[in-house]
Amino acid sequence: MSDVATCPIHEIGPMMPANLVSPWLMNKRLRDEAPVFQDPMSGIFFISRYEDVVAMALDHETFSSVMPGATTRAVNSEDDEVIAIMEQGYPNVATMLTQDPPLQRRYRKFVDKAFSPANLKKLEPYIEQVSNELIDRFADRGECEFLNDFGVPLPLTIIASQIGVPLDDLPKLRRWTEAFIGNLSQQLDRDGIIAAAKDILEFQHYFVERMEERRAEPTEDILSMVINASIDGKPLDNAEGLSMLSQILVAGNETTAASLTEGIWLLINNPDQYEILRQDTSPERISDFVEEVLRYSSPSSNMFRRTTRDVTLHGVTIPENSICFARFASANQDEAQFEDAARFDITRTNLKEHVAFGKGIHHCLGAALARREMNGGFKVIFERMENFRLQEGAADPEFSPNALLHGLTGLPLAFDLIR
Ligand code: HEM
Repeated sequence: MSDVATCPIHEIGPMMPANLVSPWLMNKRLRDEAPVFQDPMSGIFFISRYEDVVAMALDHETFSSVMPGATTRAVNSEDDEVIAIMEQGYPNVATMLTQDPPLQRRYRKFVDKAFSPANLKKLEPYIEQVSNELIDRFADRGECEFLNDFGVPLPLTIIASQIGVPLDDLPKLRRWTEAFIGNLSQQLDRDGIIAAAKDILEFQHYFVERMEERRAEPTEDILSMVINASIDGKPLDNAEGLSMLSQILVAGNETTAASLTEGIWLLINNPDQYEILRQDTSPERISDFVEEVLRYSSPSSNMFRRTTRDVTLHGVTIPENSICFARFASANQDEAQFEDAARFDITRTNLKEHVAFGKGIHHCLGAALARREMNGGFKVIFERMENFRLQEGAADPEFSPNALLHGLTGLPLAFDLIR
């Protein structure tokens, strides 16, 4: 493989696993030398500078979120066994994330209420209660695998309660989320794809049953909102409901888990910033920390768009119907927008200019929820734990190779309890 620091720019290979794991230097080179770069392997156009990513996200007419030939199956594979599994389930339909206006706005409106400020305010005590319960489970050991023991279960528990799924089913929910992520990663071997297809099928049947229950007896949860929604008098069908629920699950859990976990890793690596927080754990300071963690971690690193016309940018013509990546993580590291961007700095004055939640009409549905979970979760963590470090003998944690999501595969954490 070419050395990313020195290779000619056209050899940089942005979809190579090593570059997905560690994209920072590659992103800098792309921003500096090829802000619009067509990857010769995948054909995808990579848009890497902050101002271009923002412009792209705001221009949804030119940069559509509907993919051409998007598969009608939830798992995109020509393997006969996978097709046979998926045929026992429901087709893949485009809703919020994968849809354009006006339909995209309509789908979103159905679930907006669940993410309204008033509803989220009510959740604050529950977020702190769950955070405390999770810490109780490992507090005495003085160590945990932070991603597994806190990062994943916090957002999963909260969203399960909002969707209307019994807490006993959390392990299943987790397995299904992982199947969707594995499927998205495009890094699975055949056995992995078949296993993901089986899990996604199970997810579909489970949620169709839950939707039927809510049809008979609606409550205030997201399942009821989805099932009671209709477009032009026609109620949403099961496939539309499943699409919305899978987006809420997948877009919400993995991302928030990744940012919570990277937040602790960033504190370990930046003791000066940790010290600022130790001196001041006011809600305002924690909120600044959360925003800088979001900028720095940018777990939703790239998102697809399709051009609806020829576009010329920085001298490169992107033909109509090309697939592009809006590179939110690269935008958040752009020196032209964030001074000394590679530095983790919770005292930045323009913290909130990050685009970790995207921009424009697709701006994250769950942004306020994710912020509440992170602010509440870190508040409880800083009240109870300190002196974060890697467990003795543990190697540095690593990021997983995924074209759309960036996050650590785990964090073997040691800490002291605050007595
Ligand atoms: C740190 C946590 C999160 C990050 C970094 C994140 C990031 C993003 C980004 C970048 C987008 C825009 C995608 C695009 O422009 O194509 C997005 C959209 C979305 N997010 Fe999040 N997200 C997070 C948490 C959540 C949560 C907690 C939920 C739900 C419970 C959620 C649900 C969604 C949905 C449904 C969309 C699609 C909205 C639409 O297209 O109208 N996300 N998110």
